[in-house]
Amino acid sequence: MDLELNDQQRMIRDLARDFAEGEIAPIAARIDETGEFPRDTVMKMGALGLMGLTTAEEWGGVGADTVSYVLAMEEISRVCASHGVIMSVNNSLVCYGLEKFGTDAQRKEWLVPLASGEKIGAYSLTEPQSGSDAANMHTTAILDGDHYLINGRKSWVTSGPVADTIVVFVTTNPKGDHNDTMCVLVDTTQPGFERGKTEPKLGIRASATCEVTFEDYKAPVDAVLGEDGGGFKVAMTILDAGRIGIASQALGIARAAFEASVSYAQERKAFGKRIADHQAIAFMLADMNTRLDAARLLTLRAAVKKDRGERYSLEASMAKLYASEAANFITDKAVQVHGGMGYSKELPVERYFRDARITEIYEGTSEIQRLVIARNVLRAAG
Ligand code: CAA
Repeated sequence: MDLELNDQQRMIRDLARDFAEGEIAPIAARIDETGEFPRDTVMKMGALGLMGLTTAEEWGGVGADTVSYVLAMEEISRVCASHGVIMSVNNSLVCYGLEKFGTDAQRKEWLVPLASGEKIGAYSLTEPQSGSDAANMHTTAILDGDHYLINGRKSWVTSGPVADTIVVFVTTNPKGDHNDTMCVLVDTTQPGFERGKTEPKLGIRASATCEVTFEDYKAPVDAVLGEDGGGFKVAMTILDAGRIGIASQALGIARAAFEASVSYAQERKAFGKRIADHQAIAFMLADMNTRLDAARLLTLRAAVKKDRGERYSLEASMAKLYASEAANFITDKAVQVHGGMGYSKELPVERYFRDARITEIYEGTSEIQRLVIARNVLRAAG
């Protein structure tokens, strides 16, 4: 794998870094405290192309590769994990799926405004009774003339409170299996769609999350993404891409915690010397750096495989599993290196610690990643 970045990759990484440091850093602590959705900065990210990075220019995006996307996601998430997940959901779970499975008419109508950042997108698979067991859907779609009537309840929709468009997974037969599922594009301005209360969360507090309900929502037949009956495979294919996004988010959070720890360890003194010169702290920094690098390499490898057009489910799950566990390890150690100050709201370290936790839960828990990895390994072994 070639680790040398090309000009476009470096340019996108630097653009994301400058934007994160210039525009997001000044508000990151405040929006974590208030839980306010950062609409202005998200719109500015859209204007810069960061909300549709890998989407083709023809469909409103930048046409960059997945490696560039990983680099940009790391920079944004290093400064604010809430902006990171808003960007990741829009890019990987919404724009990528629309570009891959949509017809040209769907791309024109739904993808262009999302990839160009005029609209915000969300993805909704989870239901109150099913998170990991994603095929167990109760939200129904019943064909009624030239539209489907959608009824049911979906939960934990990231960006749900603000989304203009939601990619929603439904079943056409609640007694059936994954072969009875379908993906529909939902316009949240239409009747029959309601948002529930915004969830109060431990971390990524400025990314808004809610339940959504459908009561005789009319989805025109041309709003079906992919084939009737093929919804589950659409969901899984999109999640493979999403898992690279969350691995990069975890990487950004972990890097922020690591960098803060290195500087603090060089400033803070104990027993007459810098704490960095105590082996107890130096070894923590060594372990943090090693896991950070390993997480980055796994994430870039998954991105490279995706860019080559190869199957990358296994690599995406390994990257997501490792990077999210590394982020939890590194942010935990960062609190420890900082001691009391790591526990204080005066520094961002406690925010990194809270923000890292979700990366082991959403877009497939660590247990689901292990399941996917094991199934891939055993299948390959024959
Ligand atoms: N790509 C394409 N097809 C896939 C696939 C993939 N990655 N994974 C599975 N499939 C196909 C299988 O080949 C199979 O096809 P056939 O019917 O032709 O054989 C079909 O899908 C069913 O596969 P499984 O039998 O493996 O299905 P399963 O019920 O055992 O579930 C699972 C597999 C991996 C556990 C899956 O349910 C899963 O990933 N669960 C976790 C769900 C998840 O990640 N939820 C996150 C919600 S989104 C979110 O968090 C977004 C947010 O807001 C941030």
